[in-house]
Amino acid sequence: MDRIYLIGYMGSGKSTVGKELASRLGWKFIDLDEVIIERSGLTIPEIFRRYGEHTFRQLESSALVSTIEMSQVIVATGGGAPCFNDNIDVLTANGLTIFLNGSIDTIVNRIRADSSVRPIVASKSKNELRSFIEDHLAARLTFYKQANITVDIDQSISEIVDEILEKIKLN
Ligand code: S3P
Repeated sequence: MDRIYLIGYMGSGKSTVGKELASRLGWKFIDLDEVIIERSGLTIPEIFRRYGEHTFRQLESSALVSTIEMSQVIVATGGGAPCFNDNIDVLTANGLTIFLNGSIDTIVNRIRADSSVRPIVASKSKNELRSFIEDHLAARLTFYKQANITVDIDQSISEIVDEILEKIKLN
């Protein structure tokens, strides 16, 4: 096993957990959104605004493919990555997938704190946000649940990483 892909909804802590997991394993860390930003020279909101979600999803799929020959790497994927273009199959065929699963309350609170940087939820009012996330997350669970391992995020970062290390038995 040479690659670990962290998947899960926006606000589930994929980047934070990924960095900590990478440092505990002595592996590299890659954030798929950062790969897209570097390659395009645009921020995620700019890509959505100028070219639309469809183009973003194409960039995301090609960024994902660029990781499949890397070794000893933890990849934090964007919340939508497993849910488009059969990416879930690319993920499961090329690495160990870990779903960071959280309660609606945790996710909503985290997203509320910085929804403006996330185009999918940026236009939602405070009242709309919770019911949007409930429906959207429910639709995406079909993909997230295909992960090899599921970890509950309603605990500290170091506890999440301990649980992952215990479950993957690499430590
Ligand atoms: C998205 C999640 C974002 C980013 C983009 C779209 C999504 O990543 O890829 O804004 O569709 O859920 P994070 O999950 O890191 O916020």
